[in-house]
Amino acid sequence: MADDAPLSHDASQPIEGEQIYQQHCASCHGIDGEGMPNWQRPNAMGELPAPPHGPEGHTWKHSDAMLYRMVSEGWRDPWNETERLTMPAFEDVLTPAEIRSVINYLKTLWTPEQQRHQAEESEGASFPMQSE
Ligand code: HEC
Repeated sequence: MADDAPLSHDASQPIEGEQIYQQHCASCHGIDGEGMPNWQRPNAMGELPAPPHGPEGHTWKHSDAMLYRMVSEGWRDPWNETERLTMPAFEDVLTPAEIRSVINYLKTLWTPEQQRHQAEESEGASFPMQSE
């Protein structure tokens, strides 16, 4: 478990981010970030399945600030027919550095064009400043 891992490492390292991804995210978003089958269609409960994080998904369309919020506070599509957070909140599971790290890993799955777009999107909407 990464729970008691010290924070002295460089949190921007995608390698660490990939480990966090495999441990906490891959069960829903897929080992290679491929998402769940039929991720664009609401399931029988009227909820959207976990989307892919690669070029075919839409993770790259969100700024750093928004991605951070989605991972730390959880997320559900406003059109979902149930109230529950289909994307769980990780603020009690991962440290702020680990959340930044796993998001930096997701960036490695995008095309250069998407990376550029997302970097522009993040101007003035970067990761929240964290003292921890
Ligand atoms: C229990 C399953 C589950 C786990 C575990 C999970 N997610 Fe999700 N995630 C979802 C679902 C479902 C959605 C789509 C929610 C919606 O749009 O209604 C989602 C959406 C997202 C989004 C928004 C994507 C977009 O384009 O709108 C991001 C970013 C994300 N997840 C990152 C992560 C990260 C990083 C982890 C691991 C730390 C993780 N998720 C773990 C189920 C999960």
